[in-house]
Amino acid sequence: MFEKIIYFLYLNNLFRACIFFSKFASIFNKKYQRRIFFFNYLKKKRKKIKKKILKIVYQPRIFIFNSKNNRKNIIQKIYNYENLNLKNEFSYHGHKNVYQSEHNLNENIKFKSISKQLEKSVNKKISKYLNFKKLSIVRMWFVITKKSGFIKKHSHLNSDFSAVYYLKVDKNQSSSNGIKIYNDLGKIEICEFNDKKNSFVVRDLRKKFLLFKPKNDDLVIFNSYIEHSVNNYGSKIINRISLPFDLTLD
Ligand SMILES: [Fe+2]
Repeated sequence: MFEKIIYFLYLNNLFRACIFFSKFASIFNKKYQRRIFFFNYLKKKRKKIKKKILKIVYQPRIFIFNSKNNRKNIIQKIYNYENLNLKNEFSYHGHKNVYQSEHNLNENIKFKSISKQLEKSVNKKISKYLNFKKLSIVRMWFVITKKSGFIKKHSHLNSDFSAVYYLKVDKNQSSSNGIKIYNDLGKIEICEFNDKKNSFVVRDLRKKFLLFKPKNDDLVIFNSYIEHSVNNYGSKIINRISLPFDLTLD
């Protein structure tokens, strides 16, 4: 019964009420505690979210597929980026040995075509799966992690889905390296694209987190509310490069 009430309130943007009911319901069943952070996250957005979008994002998902792009060319553009090595507002987020570009690369003349290409590749694969016409890139940046770089646990607030495209990563990574995606809601659908079947193969993640070890050209997409962190301890290559971007459904 609680489940239905909370879901009804959720679809009507009543996130405060969702938090209240979840806290009350958790007296009887602890599982209701799990979604409180999610409702808090939506409350922080301070905007009305369409019912259709709320239905899509309720079930947390991770999409994994391969996207062939001209990586050499993109890496060259990154090294030519005019503000490379200058400190910016993203330098002090408590991360270690990490350089981030400004977050508006999708509007930068040199990166616009890459952003459009990635957007096309994402839509080709997942918009049909989500039954939504188009996902749009609203932010894109690059991240260079030096040896032993570390990005602390965080989530992205101003988007519906967040993605990372891997440009340069180690082939043989140590066991704890990779992107750690936390399963705070207890069940994440992992949708991994199978090229032979030309469709996603779906499995449920029940463990506390997924440690994803990317290869070059891998693209991983997950709900923006899902917390994640990156560990690059003992990496053999000096610069590990990725291209994260945020997507919205409206
Ligand atoms: Fe992130």
